[in-house]
Amino acid sequence: MKRSLLALLCAMTAIGAQAADAAKAAPKGDASRGQAIATTVCAACHGADGNSQLAVNPKLAGQHPEYLFKQMKNFKAADGKPAERNSAVMNGMIAAFDDGQMRDLAAYFGAQTQTGDVAKSRETIELGQKLYRSGDLSKGLPACAACHGPAGAGLPAQYPRIGGQFAEYTEVQLKSFRDGVRANDPNKMMRMVALKMTDAEIKAVADYVAGLR
Ligand code: HEC
Ligand code: HEC
Repeated sequence: MKRSLLALLCAMTAIGAQAADAAKAAPKGDASRGQAIATTVCAACHGADGNSQLAVNPKLAGQHPEYLFKQMKNFKAADGKPAERNSAVMNGMIAAFDDGQMRDLAAYFGAQTQTGDVAKSRETIELGQKLYRSGDLSKGLPACAACHGPAGAGLPAQYPRIGGQFAEYTEVQLKSFRDGVRANDPNKMMRMVALKMTDAEIKAVADYVAGLR
């Protein structure tokens, strides 16, 4: 009787220790430590609060921290392997930071409020909305909303917020997925989507997404 109780206690302690290890492996970032780096290093392009001014630099404000952390990891060449996501700017930018600092940066930018962009093209808004909400059954194009949510807020941790992002940035990313230039999407999820889209459809949906809240 006593012995089995002891065994049980030992097992429970082991589980507790495992949980503590897991927590150590994926600690939450510290937003205030992230802010110190963000305002000195990242602000020039992404804005001090993650709301960039120029459309070539994506807004980071309000993005899911897990997604931000994954992208930073993907930009960084490590263990002799090349970076999984190529960007002449970001590959160099992120090289100096370790996992802990990247988590801090992700926590900081994720906690900021995005100031969304607006849709600018009246002529294509209907097409953009249709593609976003329903996709195109005739060519097996799934609705963006299925993964990025009805308002473009995404679904943590895997599916990023895309609502309110600059249309130009979204367009470039969709074309990069289509051409395989960007290939860091799990299970080729975005490459399969973008492959089914024409330039005109990409432009329309990117413009629609910019105004999505
Ligand atoms: C010189 C300008 C510049 C600076 C400084 C810069 N970035 Fe970037 N960042 C970019 C550009 C341009 C892209 C888009 C790359 C692409 O097209 O794939 C980008 C993309 C990103 C992305 C991917 C966003 C997404 O939606 O997928 C993250 C995350 C990011 N930057 C984080 C940072 C952090 C953190 C810092 C500071 C340590 C930083 N950047 C500094 C220009 C910059
Ligand atoms: C099957 C799920 C799925 C569907 C459907 C889908 N996406 Fe995505 N999308 C993803 C995932 C997952 C990622 C993150 C890839 C990564 O980890 O780098 C992503 C990333 C993106 C990005 C890059 C965001 C950034 O900040 O760099 C854009 C832009 C995007 N999707 C737009 C769209 C649009 C527009 C549609 C509809 C035409 C769409 N997606 C449909 C799963 C999906």
